[in-house]
Amino acid sequence: MIRHIFENREQIQQEAALRILSMLQEHPAAILGLATGSTPVGIYQEIAKLYDQGLISFKKATTFNLDEYIGLPESHPQSYHTYMKEHLFQYIDLPAEQAYIPDGNAPDLSKECLRYDELINKAHQIDLQILGLGHNGHIGFNEPDDSLVNGTHIVELQEQTRLANARFFPSLDEVPTHAITMGMGAILKAKSILLVVYGAEKAEVAFRALTGPIQTELPASLLQIHPNLTVLMDKEAGRLFND
Ligand code: F6R
Repeated sequence: MIRHIFENREQIQQEAALRILSMLQEHPAAILGLATGSTPVGIYQEIAKLYDQGLISFKKATTFNLDEYIGLPESHPQSYHTYMKEHLFQYIDLPAEQAYIPDGNAPDLSKECLRYDELINKAHQIDLQILGLGHNGHIGFNEPDDSLVNGTHIVELQEQTRLANARFFPSLDEVPTHAITMGMGAILKAKSILLVVYGAEKAEVAFRALTGPIQTELPASLLQIHPNLTVLMDKEAGRLFND
């Protein structure tokens, strides 16, 4: 694992965007794993700037999002379909048919999980997976549990996750109770992983996940076994590391 601590978030966002740029320069048809939430917003803004400057193209790329809420219409302001359009897809040249997000409204959700895994398997491997870190150590929506699931699956969101995400909804009641998420298998199979962590409130979970025992009760701890993990943190998130 390589860990970099930055003075501020802007530097991390630029660094992450540059890593995506160099991936696409080397492999225009790269497979990218994308996250939502507040962490990648600034990264996507940097990518939009690179696109405006004519430096980056997603024409041949394919993207797989980690997760989606169950039961929110695609057009709901808080769906991850809407998020991706608002924060990234509207600004770049990624063809819509090359952007995959699990369908949280599929009539048969078990089939949707299988379909999503088949799509990922067909792509063979994600080249670069962007990850944020949940307050409870979740990755995607792989929530802490006494076991984890390899493939795409339906998950009941923990209270802590719903509370953390309630900031985006008018009330806690409106935060969905379930989500569909890529499993730990596809995430750990990615060729390279970029984990981005900001803020003092994630310092402890980041430290435990990256230095403590590997345990399913802390899904992010499984990232320790990945051969090509890079962690970008700001000073606040990295304050428990002695470097
Ligand atoms: C979102 C996702 C989640 C978030 C995590 C952190 O697609 O996969 O694991 O990365 O909940 O969220 P923020 O960035 O909002 O703190």
